[in-house]
Amino acid sequence: MNPSPRHLVGLLGLEREWVLQLFADADKLRAARGTAKAPKPLAGKTAALVFHKPSLRTRVSVTVGMHELGGDAVDLTAVEVSEHGRESVADVANVLSGMCDIIVARTFSHSLVEKLAQHASVPVINALTDHSHPCQILADLYTLWRQDRNLDDMTVAWVGDGNNVLHSWLEAATIFGFRLRVAVPDGFEPDAGLFLEIERRTEGRVRRVRDPEEAVRDCDVIYTDTWTSMGQEAEAQWRRIAFAGFTVDAQLMSLAKSDASFMHCLPAHRGEEVTDEVIDGPQSIVLDEAENRLHLQKALMVALAAATPPRESGKRKRERVSPSLAVAVTA
Ligand code: CP
Ligand code: NVA
Repeated sequence: MNPSPRHLVGLLGLEREWVLQLFADADKLRAARGTAKAPKPLAGKTAALVFHKPSLRTRVSVTVGMHELGGDAVDLTAVEVSEHGRESVADVANVLSGMCDIIVARTFSHSLVEKLAQHASVPVINALTDHSHPCQILADLYTLWRQDRNLDDMTVAWVGDGNNVLHSWLEAATIFGFRLRVAVPDGFEPDAGLFLEIERRTEGRVRRVRDPEEAVRDCDVIYTDTWTSMGQEAEAQWRRIAFAGFTVDAQLMSLAKSDASFMHCLPAHRGEEVTDEVIDGPQSIVLDEAENRLHLQKALMVALAAATPPRESGKRKRERVSPSLAVAVTA
């Protein structure tokens, strides 16, 4: 039996077999989708959605996913949930744990998601923070797994910013054996402490390289992301200058293996980190990645909800109400 995590805050520490089971479950949900056999394992369950940043893919995958699994979702904002808001994060986590079954949070501060996970008795899913984006990389790995790529023997080239998406790729390199070459401009490196830790754990499989050409030569996957992540909009102009030479174009793609895939978590800034020719070209699998966010998200929510012990808060509440009402509630 593979130990199932209680929350998905990051990818470090996830068991490889648990992740592979997630992929298999996502495939089953994909096959059953829209048929009479589509399972509803989350019937009666509700996800609390805390989105402090815009989202298309993640928000839709969670909301549609909950609906398709028989459950529901409720939207919350930074007014209700924040580190310096109406009430403490611990109180929010405890209250939501009494009413909802999963908390899905997209926040600027990573520590907010960590605090929610620390206090909630229901699973907390990191739906992107300034630090990481684990759901995206699980869906990306699922996409590559579906392509029959060998996750233990492929070379992934990261070309671009040392951002949250790269951090999750770095963490993923501790689960599977792929090689990861990281080309980032000076001054835009990933978190130094995380990088050192991953280098230590992966024994030479993860390394920073000098330039994009060196990163992509004979690689199996080229991955890029926006040069300006959400929250960095004021820096967009000078980032465009700093990232000159880091655009994934046809010339760069031609240095990779002939069957290499181009990947991007989206949203893309066409003409900046990637050209139209590449993102719309035959090697691009960005729309598969986007659709797979749904299948993987559903499998993830089922896996985490299934591993959650029955909630105690409802019981505590019933004990506190008057006897007559308690009969009505428990009947
Ligand atoms: N890739 C991704 O997370 O997209 P959204 O920001 O639209 O959710
Ligand atoms: N790095 C991007 C990812 C968007 C899905 C951002 O944080 O804006």
